[in-house]
Amino acid sequence: MADKTIIVTGGAGFIGSHVVRLLVSRYPEYRIINLDKLTYAGNPENLSDVENKPNYVFERKDITDAESVRAVFDGYLPDGVIHLAAESHVDRSISCPAEFVMTNVVGTATLLDAALACWKGRFEGKRFYHISTDEVYGSLGREGRFTETTPYSPRSPYSASKAGADHLVRAYFHTFGLPVVISNCSNNYGPNQFPEKLIPLAINNIRDGLPVPVYGKGENVRDWLYVVDHACAIDTVFHRGRNGETYNIGGNGEYANIDLIRMLCRIMDGKLQRAEGTSERLITFVKDRAGHDLRYAIDFTRLERELGWKPSLRLEEGLEKTVDWYLSNEQWLQHTVSGAYRQYYREQYENR
Ligand code: NAD
Ligand code: DAU
Repeated sequence: MADKTIIVTGGAGFIGSHVVRLLVSRYPEYRIINLDKLTYAGNPENLSDVENKPNYVFERKDITDAESVRAVFDGYLPDGVIHLAAESHVDRSISCPAEFVMTNVVGTATLLDAALACWKGRFEGKRFYHISTDEVYGSLGREGRFTETTPYSPRSPYSASKAGADHLVRAYFHTFGLPVVISNCSNNYGPNQFPEKLIPLAINNIRDGLPVPVYGKGENVRDWLYVVDHACAIDTVFHRGRNGETYNIGGNGEYANIDLIRMLCRIMDGKLQRAEGTSERLITFVKDRAGHDLRYAIDFTRLERELGWKPSLRLEEGLEKTVDWYLSNEQWLQHTVSGAYRQYYREQYENR
């Protein structure tokens, strides 16, 4: 009998896979259920190193499908939910907003209802942890940082849908007493990130000698956090955060996009033994993203003071590790972009 059963939604995605790996390895006495639909962004290969562990279970389910979700809750009777499943890419939300509302808002509501029905008012030892983003706070000028009390001001369909989900989670806490906790994190980077996001896209293109597209003038600032540090923060908040509370998570790693890309170019020139300046020549300024938020920066004092978490890596160190990972995992990249991992999924799971 497991000490705790935890449903992690979106566990086959970028951040979710790091969370699942950490929980499965750190808590062999827990049972970790990965509930994931496997959209284009979900890849079971991300978890090939833990998929045979006895405390890991995979359930291919859609969080918007109330019946399937209820069946998973009734079948495993979870003590906790760590909810990461989402449509996560801002550019896709601009071309297809409705999908974001469906997954991020309706999907979250479906999970909240399932938790409420499963726990039937007996909330002792239970927890619903919702993973959100700093983008709900809107866009900063040159000064200041987001705190947990910064008013919401989402400006893309993605951030609006995440804000909607955050509001629902808080509403279930106030209305039904559901034991919830929320964290809002800055930009993650690291191994296993789908190459539609800036850093893996740039690594991929630099390696192949292709143009590296930088939106606008590259002046937009993001606060970068290494994904394993985020997974550790999630573990901390899940176990020790206070019910009804929000925790900001950030990297102390603010960079303008163009400076970040130049740093990446220098690292890649070194790793690929190319003459200095070779990769920088690939930088290509392209049309800006619609409604492009200028700057995000996170104040994570609450998390540091209350729970003792802080990031362990500076951006340059994390980028080095990330580049090393992508350069030695070309097969992962090929499978991810070609969709060949679906074949992998069928072989691994169809007859189990
Ligand atoms: P991702 O796009 O890499 O992965 C999303 C995962 O969710 C995939 O495995 C996908 O298959 C799954 N999924 C999507 N729709 C689903 C559905 N209907 N049912 C079940 N599973 C579904 O995302 P990510 O970058 O790992 O982000 C994870 C979470 O963290 C998201 O909630 C995102 O908003 C949040 N977040 C991300 C970042 C970041 O920089 N990537 C920063 C802060 C917060
Ligand atoms: O802040 C947290 C958010 O970070 C998460 O909630 C999102 O899920 C995650 O996707 C990320 O959003 P961004 O839009 O900041 O990430 P992205 O990697 O798409 O872009 C980072 C910056 O780089 C942004 O200013 C846009 C710019 N950019 C992006 C791409 C894909 C480019 O200049 N060129 C590109 O090709």
